[in-house]
Amino acid sequence: MGPVNRNILTLDEFTIQQLRDFPLATGELSGLLRDMGLAAKRVNVEVNKAGLVDILGDLGRVNVQGEDVKKLDIFANNQFMGVLQHGISCAGIGSEELDDYISFDDEVSKNSKYVCLFDPLDGSGNIDVNVSIGTIFSVYRRVTPKGSLAAKEDFLQPGSKQVAAGYIVYGSSTMLVYATRRGVNGFTLDPSIGEFCLSHPNIKCPEFGKIYSVNHGNFFQYSEKVRNYITVCQKKNSGNGGPYTQRYIGSMVSDVHRNLIKGGIFMYPATTDKPKGKLRLLYECNPFAFITEVAGGKATNGEQRILDVQPTALHERSPLFIGSKGMMEEFEMT
Ligand code: AHG
Ligand code: MN
Ligand code: MN
Repeated sequence: MGPVNRNILTLDEFTIQQLRDFPLATGELSGLLRDMGLAAKRVNVEVNKAGLVDILGDLGRVNVQGEDVKKLDIFANNQFMGVLQHGISCAGIGSEELDDYISFDDEVSKNSKYVCLFDPLDGSGNIDVNVSIGTIFSVYRRVTPKGSLAAKEDFLQPGSKQVAAGYIVYGSSTMLVYATRRGVNGFTLDPSIGEFCLSHPNIKCPEFGKIYSVNHGNFFQYSEKVRNYITVCQKKNSGNGGPYTQRYIGSMVSDVHRNLIKGGIFMYPATTDKPKGKLRLLYECNPFAFITEVAGGKATNGEQRILDVQPTALHERSPLFIGSKGMMEEFEMT
């Protein structure tokens, strides 16, 4: 075995180092991010076994512990909920898989500073066909006093109030990326030691890219502006030397992650069938808008900056246009 590589920074080391510089930091946010990393590792193990679920299912939909075999998104939901409930940083959660928010009612949680909103498994339609999926999360400082139960107003804050946001991609490798106001950093899971290691420090979204990501099947349901912009993307010598390349995985985490690294624009516009689009404001649009803006990009709902939208319901939907600053401006000018 070679010498230990001390250039490697793990997620926990990096986070503690970064947040130590803040005079008011209590370590609660580092704790919360560590908890998310732990749940992500557990979900990763199950995602990697997903192809086997059918075989196990043949045995009668009951696993070795005698429990019912749960859908992977419910499993993921329970993992993230579990670490946050038992950690020391989170007063309550909202999740795509839960009808309403949950305020944890033990003393430690009631005295915690943060609430967390998440989509435990995004792109879950891709699980059965071995295509990358992800987790998305968003962290807010609660507005209700410590010591009380977290309440609705803690969860319905505009995205500009996020303290941190992140995502995990379960892809050809598993990565966790998170942003605070100070920057966006990416960590790749080293399965041999079970640690997320800093692999993509200080991610910046290129100002222009050559990728546009949209569901073309809905083309005739989009507004004229969106249809015009798609045509701009397809034109030779448009803006940044088109035609651009169309890439659409159908897992927003993977699509937006790729565009963040390579440069590009991702759109989930309103359609005639879905006038508010498909994606959820609180745990899909807001976290990615925050991450993208910190990385130098832009995110809007077609009319307004996503992070300025005042949410009114936990599961509300929003159209989303997000990505490289130059391409977003090109869209806005169309
Ligand atoms: P989820 O699996 O959490 O329901 O979300 C899937 C989302 C998103 O990840 C993706 O970009 C979008 O649905 C794809 O939708 P279309 O198939 O309508 O294009
Ligand atoms: Mn989703
Ligand atoms: Mn989901």
